Amino acid sequence: MDKQHELAALETAMAADETLPLRDANLVFGEGNPEGGIMFIGEAPGQNEDRLKRPFVGRGGQLLDRMIESIGWHRPDVYITNIVKRRPPENRDPSPEEIAAYRPWLARQIEIVDPKIIVTLGRFSMNYFLPLAKITRDRGRGFLVDGRIIFPVLHPAAALRSTEMMHMLEEDFQKLPAAVRGDIPAEIPPSLAMPPARETKSRPKPEKPSQGSLF
Ligand code: URA
Repeated sequence: MDKQHELAALETAMAADETLPLRDANLVFGEGNPEGGIMFIGEAPGQNEDRLKRPFVGRGGQLLDRMIESIGWHRPDVYITNIVKRRPPENRDPSPEEIAAYRPWLARQIEIVDPKIIVTLGRFSMNYFLPLAKITRDRGRGFLVDGRIIFPVLHPAAALRSTEMMHMLEEDFQKLPAAVRGDIPAEIPPSLAMPPARETKSRPKPEKPSQGSLF
């Protein structure tokens, strides 16, 4: 089976899973080219995404499209999805339980797409892969996780709220082609980095029992 068929089968199985949370909303599974080596992962669908059953189609999505074009890429060439596949009511943040419930489905989706690089959009998606990362500190850098590069950037909706954040998002996107080419070496996530080697002081050897002992 090719990737598109495997993804379609996964979507059908997911739609049939009645144990998943947020079942009142539409399933927004994801879309794009699974052969391009690049996967964008956001947080959860919003109102427009729920209505059209497509990820990133509202204002944030239009900004994402512009950012993708700004580096000479095209939206149909990349794969786009979210960590939570149904809209939380009132656009609230997804809960840890919701993220956990959708986790095995996203894990399988990533396995099928098998991207070289995953661009995480916003804090929730970043922390899914890098639980100890901080968005302001770690955005625009590539981290090696399970053999793939995880490249966190700000959420487009955050960039729409401030000029400063917009510049940060633009700056991060400009680094993406180099990260994909491997020109920016991927780092070991801070939580996994080995502590600096300590000076090894020679430990005193345990004393042998003296001849005069009872044994
Ligand atoms: N925000 C997200 O995180 N995902 C979408 O699909 C749309 C907005």
